[in-house]
Amino acid sequence: MSRFARIAGTGGYLPDRVRTNDDIAAQVDTSDEWIVERTGIRSRRIAGPDESASSMAEIASRQAIEAAGIAPDDIDLIIVATSSPDRVFPSTACLLQQRLNVRNCCPAFDVQAACSGFIFAFSIADQYIRSGNARRVLVVGSELNSRLVDWTDRATCILFGDGAGAVLLEASDEPGVLSTHINSDGQYRDLLYLPNASVSLDDEKRFIQMQGNEVFKVAVNTLGKIVDDTLAANHLNQSEIDWLVPHQANIRIIMATAKKLKMPMERVVCTIETQGNTSSASVPLALNEAIRDGRIQRGQTVLMEAFGSGFAWGSALIRY
Ligand code: UT7
Repeated sequence: MSRFARIAGTGGYLPDRVRTNDDIAAQVDTSDEWIVERTGIRSRRIAGPDESASSMAEIASRQAIEAAGIAPDDIDLIIVATSSPDRVFPSTACLLQQRLNVRNCCPAFDVQAACSGFIFAFSIADQYIRSGNARRVLVVGSELNSRLVDWTDRATCILFGDGAGAVLLEASDEPGVLSTHINSDGQYRDLLYLPNASVSLDDEKRFIQMQGNEVFKVAVNTLGKIVDDTLAANHLNQSEIDWLVPHQANIRIIMATAKKLKMPMERVVCTIETQGNTSSASVPLALNEAIRDGRIQRGQTVLMEAFGSGFAWGSALIRY
């Protein structure tokens, strides 16, 4: 039995349409200066009317499958992390299975852990491969946040964007995924949430609700701690991490985590400036970008982390 799960291929997709800070400032009381200074975001991508979490996931997944040099029917398990599924059921993973024409009846299911969804899905995939229950797992984060955001609420609409990222994990005798850590604390349930349509709703409650500055404080502290825990569990020190691939929620949160790791920002993969917060898609999109442009090289050590609604947070340490 192979001991490790290794990244065999990655992919990413961003919709064509760009919404700039000035576009938003034309609609609500904000400014490009405020958004750039407080978040690091200049623009974000917005899905078109014919796009969905599954359509974006399909494009990202086809790239990952091609990069891995496998056929869709070689996949043993499909996990999609999303908080913006096409349908409540069936899962977006089932819709993706149909779109990819995977006909081998492999299990396909969604994971809902908000912005940390990809890390949670990645952790599950790693367990499946380590236990010998799957050899090839497609892990996707895909989000259509623009339809979950109240575009009249300046506290939230400035942050979010749409997109999808995918990773094909494969069993290997060489590392691979070194460790994953995932945590949740439901005590924070009311600081960041999206009401469900199955509960009767007045109009303003149909959208993402967030107490941003409260989320910010807990995010910085929690990510600092999980980074420490991850290094300790792997008997590594900060200088042995080549790349940080963080969830892209706010450049100030990312910088705080980089500082904790004593990492220069050149070693941190940042996409936030042009993508905003794509929730569960942000980590695989950033990973894919840095692999494809040659920054992340085989053999390097990469720390991925995320924090979001729940609160739910996690990390994955890999030797690429
Ligand atoms: O991915 C999941 C996890 N999510 C996060 O990690 C998000 C974390 N939170 C954040 O990124 C930040 O809290 C925000 C970017 C959302 C807000 O930045 P902040 O520095 O925490 O601002 P704040 O909410 O404390 O508000 C400061 C001021 C307030 O005005 P007063 O009360 O000081 O007069 C707000 O009304 O900024 C005002 N404000 C804005 N002004 C211009 C809030 N949003 C805006 C805006 N434009 N868009």
